Amino acid sequence: MPKEHSDIGLIGLAVMGQNLALNIADHGFQISVYNRTTAKTDAFVEANPDTPGGLVGTATMEDFVKSLAKPRKVIILVQAGRATDAVIDGLIPLLDKDDIIIDGGNALWTDTIRREQELKAKGLRFIGSGVSGGEEGARFGPSLMPGGDKAAFKELAKIWKAIAAKVDKDTGKPLEGAEPGKPVKGGVPCTAYIGENGAGHYVKMVHNGIEYGDMQMICEAYDLMQGILGLKPKEMGEIFGEWNKGALDSFLIEITADILGQKDPASRKAFVDVVLDTAGQKGTGKWTSVNALNMGVAAPTIAESVFSRCLSAVKDERVAASKILKGPKKKKYTGAKKALIQAIHDALYCSKICSYAQGFQLMREAQNEYGWKLNFGQIAQIWRGGCIIRAGFLQKITEAFARDKKLANLLLDPYFNKTIQAAQENWRKVVALAAEHGIPAPTFASSLAYYDGYRSARLPANLLQAQRDYFGAHTYERVDQPRGKFYHVDWPQKD
Ligand code: NAP
Ligand code: ATR
Repeated sequence: MPKEHSDIGLIGLAVMGQNLALNIADHGFQISVYNRTTAKTDAFVEANPDTPGGLVGTATMEDFVKSLAKPRKVIILVQAGRATDAVIDGLIPLLDKDDIIIDGGNALWTDTIRREQELKAKGLRFIGSGVSGGEEGARFGPSLMPGGDKAAFKELAKIWKAIAAKVDKDTGKPLEGAEPGKPVKGGVPCTAYIGENGAGHYVKMVHNGIEYGDMQMICEAYDLMQGILGLKPKEMGEIFGEWNKGALDSFLIEITADILGQKDPASRKAFVDVVLDTAGQKGTGKWTSVNALNMGVAAPTIAESVFSRCLSAVKDERVAASKILKGPKKKKYTGAKKALIQAIHDALYCSKICSYAQGFQLMREAQNEYGWKLNFGQIAQIWRGGCIIRAGFLQKITEAFARDKKLANLLLDPYFNKTIQAAQENWRKVVALAAEHGIPAPTFASSLAYYDGYRSARLPANLLQAQRDYFGAHTYERVDQPRGKFYHVDWPQKD
């Protein structure tokens, strides 16, 4: 017998909405669903008659709202931007004071800040929750990053914790094996309250920026192995499979191994070889990079991964340029193959550390900008399961912030410092080899420059400040005077 009122409701039955609704129903919660196009609601409810909690299909927003227990909890999973605003506008006159709207879309965090303020003024509570893990995550356990009204999240927490991905409490490894109607039991849920207003969506955005970096770094490792060593996809797939058993153990390395081992059913060629080399993007990596520039935080690895997609997109121009612009003379690599594969592994790991260091520095700056109190160890914990960047490595980050809550930069943590010390010679060798062979390795190289820049007590910005003072009287500080005192001289200087 269905309950008179559902525990929660969801609007937007595209891929993410359908899967999240089924996940919620699998955990015994009755969920009402509504979609702008009613035929989709009908088809969805008809196709899933026997979930443990039960799905209640509704044809109008009025019926949808009436079907919910108070205070109502409404998840929105529609296209980010205007569609989300349109749905919120439709809901406002139908909801009562203290009802809760949860936006699970990929909203820009500043939109979430605005929406929270507007809804608060109307007596409604708002949660902006990052939902990560794509279709599979939504169905069997996403990583959930909720921000906004804290008291409202307390009321949502039971459902959010139930549906989130789970990791082993000791090892931090994802607990897998959920299937329809049979969710994983036990484990630590990959969700926790992130912070006020847009904090959840901000953290989700940084997650995506880091995801861009991870993907690009893996692509560079692949490109170097084929470019310098001439390895074929199958062999590289086996190497990635081996790497997945060590420090680089992660979802993205695992799927890369699978992809490289895959044949195209039509041509029987390696699948990766029939895929056109132009990458698309939806914009969250760009948002992260723009935000880094706006806040003045160095995040070159993440930005380079966005630029790499941009460069990949101008395929025709590149094909034309390849006939005109010459690189170095083709060289045969005469070193040991095994040692170079290990060096590429190390370059990937060191670059990854830098990329995450940049992501966490961004979040640190954002919390000052927006008055959030972010728990970085907990954020790394939430990312250990359910999301695209899930990796054993995140446990190391959780441990680093447990050692020092105020850690200024991940590079300064003893584990990461020691790791880079041990691997940096290989990293430098790979970046140099890439340059020698004319193979672009923008995230490997920019991560190394970031590392060398961050560890430099003195950078050549002294000359830059002198130039600025020369052409624009922009003033400079002196090494022999206290900080904060500014000087200008009339140029050109006479001895
Ligand atoms: P989507 O393609 O982003 O959105 C389609 C849904 O939005 C449909 O239910 C559609 O209704 C509805 N919609 C669009 N405009 C509307 C309007 N003006 N009024 C009411 N409803 C409207 O679907 P998705 O891929 O499932 O993603 C949902 C959200 O989750 C997005 O914000 C996305 O960025 C985010 N997200 C996606 C992924 C992923 O892997 N795809 C992962 C994490 C987060 P109709 O059926 O009537 O057209
Ligand atoms: P996740 O956290 O699981 O990565 P996501 O941010 O939505 O979730 O991204 C998952 C994939 O879906 C990404 O490939 C993303 O595209 P980009 O890499 O180009 O950013 C894609 N994606 C995100 N929002 C989307 C949307 N509204 N429609 C289609 N694809 C989308």
